[in-house]
Amino acid sequence: MTDRLRRLRTTPALRRLVAETHVNPSQLVLPLFVREGLTEPAPIASMPGVVQHSRDSLRVAVAEAAAAGLGGVMLFGVPDDHDAEGTGATDPAGILNVAIADAVAEAGDALTVQADLCLDEFTDHGHCGVLRPGPRGDLVVDNDASLERYRDMALAQAAAGAHVLGLSGMMDGQVAAVREALNGAGRTDVALLAYAAKYASAFYGPFRDAVESQLEGDRRAYQLDPANRREGLREALEDVAQGADIVMVKPASSYLDVLADVAAASLVPVAAYQVSGEFAMLEAAAAHGWIDRRAAITESVLAIRRAGADIVLTYWATELAGWLRAGA
Ligand code: PBG
Repeated sequence: MTDRLRRLRTTPALRRLVAETHVNPSQLVLPLFVREGLTEPAPIASMPGVVQHSRDSLRVAVAEAAAAGLGGVMLFGVPDDHDAEGTGATDPAGILNVAIADAVAEAGDALTVQADLCLDEFTDHGHCGVLRPGPRGDLVVDNDASLERYRDMALAQAAAGAHVLGLSGMMDGQVAAVREALNGAGRTDVALLAYAAKYASAFYGPFRDAVESQLEGDRRAYQLDPANRREGLREALEDVAQGADIVMVKPASSYLDVLADVAAASLVPVAAYQVSGEFAMLEAAAAHGWIDRRAAITESVLAIRRAGADIVLTYWATELAGWLRAGA
């Protein structure tokens, strides 16, 4: 007789007993957008249910996230003004830096306040670094000049009170550069979450609406080629060697192989970012009645955990945490 694998699937209690993977609210991080000058939250057309927050509504969302037991919030700023160097990113009065201080004041001890450390929301060209003329007469993103901006941005975010800095620019050496700058300022306490394996993905489309991205062209000269699995692991190991406290794979669902590789090799916690396009696809299908929204959301995050993520960034974090609590 063959093994009776169905035996352990017989009742809900048996299935619960042998479940290999669990999702807890403490493992979830909610990305939040804050838009300079808003008095009311503004909807984002391609991300139903997600908004650009005003400073006041951001505080409410942070308080809700803390009450839901989330592990953290990841803040993105949308400024009024952009320039070539992204000076709004390092201005202590810049929208992201004031929002960090607001979030810490609202719920600083109840969850981690994390901040996106990247120039793209602040530059007029929309790239994640600063530009210089390249060898072929075109403009290229200057890796090492961008690192100087990241150092200053890290100090501004640390001064505002951020607990975790999310390095998402994909410049070589960014973790080492930022760690050195923080150490030099005596801020050894600030943790670095490296977007280690960040792919040049079409699934970031709705996010670019959310942050009113100025980008023309693409980021293929610094983000990873979706064709490459081994290189994702190499990026993660490199960031760990530079001192990353947490490494991330992004997007999540289309890159579960990379996530599993990184989780198997990493001695630091591993995060995955379920990005805007993953969110939008599932919401669109659910809005048509083509998929069971709650079941699909729950399964999608469970699958990311199963592949090896200790931490999941997801726009559904607060809602999902509510379901998890109700079901517990
Ligand atoms: C860059 C950044 C991006 C996202 C997070 N940080 C966009 C990009 O690299 O083009 C995408 C997140 C999402 O799509 O949900 N600061």
